[in-house]
Amino acid sequence: MSREDLDRAVHLLLAGRLVAFPTETVYGLGADARNPEAVARIFEAKGRPSTNPVIVHVAGIEQARRYTTEWSRNAQWLAEIFWPGPLTIVVPRSPEIAPSVSAGLDTVGLRAPRHALTLELLRLFDGPIAAPSANRSNRISPTTAQHVQEELGDRVDLILDGGQCDIGIESTVVSLCTPIPTLLRPGDVELDQLRAVLGRVDVAPHIQDVATAASSPGRHPIHYAPQKPCFRYESHEYSRVVRYLGEHATWPIVLLAINARMLASPKHRVVGMPTHPASYARHLYSALRTADTSGTSAILVELPPDEPEWMAIRDRLMRATRPLP
Ligand code: TXA
Ligand code: MG
Repeated sequence: MSREDLDRAVHLLLAGRLVAFPTETVYGLGADARNPEAVARIFEAKGRPSTNPVIVHVAGIEQARRYTTEWSRNAQWLAEIFWPGPLTIVVPRSPEIAPSVSAGLDTVGLRAPRHALTLELLRLFDGPIAAPSANRSNRISPTTAQHVQEELGDRVDLILDGGQCDIGIESTVVSLCTPIPTLLRPGDVELDQLRAVLGRVDVAPHIQDVATAASSPGRHPIHYAPQKPCFRYESHEYSRVVRYLGEHATWPIVLLAINARMLASPKHRVVGMPTHPASYARHLYSALRTADTSGTSAILVELPPDEPEWMAIRDRLMRATRPLP
């Protein structure tokens, strides 16, 4: 990326157009957060319901303070420790931010991304960039510029290519606008890390619901999902997998497995997934995307262990899949 690309990006943003950009989590679909028409373009390009608030990206603490009416001590501590990085902090929204960014809520989610190119863009633009992940609504988030191109094509005016995203899943979202700070979305910054700074942190009910959905199929909407049927199984459900594959012996099926010990058959392909959470996260969305676009009939995903360091990954997998029938 050259200086000219960045200048062009700034020019487009000021003109109310859409610019996709890399972050350390996933690619974002950006627009000037002060401009309601520009923000409307984001929702339109994604096919996203206007009831779902969008994150606002800032260059750092100084900018963040401009876009909130209350920058608390907790916000300051979190930002000092985790920014630039994969943490979105929900604080009271200043009137400068278009209400539609936050789906009409009087709060705003702020985050300084840890990506040199995008931090430079934010400094040059010198304003708030609203950006959800740069995918069509409810599809898999993009972790390369190529993915953004596949998802949005000419719905986006410019794609800045910053290579593959380092972390690979969306940021942690924590609200400081609830009586007790509340985790709204698990991510690379873990619950224990938030508790070390904030003391008590509650977990939003919708996260807990997803975490227990294994035993209650169909209780939550499918998000972040491939288009092919996508099923999950726990490691100890190995025998159910063998049975499923036996019943569908003629189907081309892709398995994303941590324990890739097994299941060789000419029709089935086993993709060995990393055993460490950080590398698993980095590969997850491109693995799902590749599985989804190969000529496969179904995707089976082995859930990683139900342990704190896997919380964000399990959360995404629970939303992307259904229990194995
Ligand atoms: O890693 C990320 O956060 C990526 C990159 C591009 O920064 N962005 C992203 O944005 O994932 P999006 O729009 O796909 O997800 C935003 C999440 C949603 O779950 C939304 O409900 C929550 O953040 N959120 C945003 N603003 C909020 C607010 N004011 N109150 C509550 N939740 C909010
Ligand atoms: Mg998203």
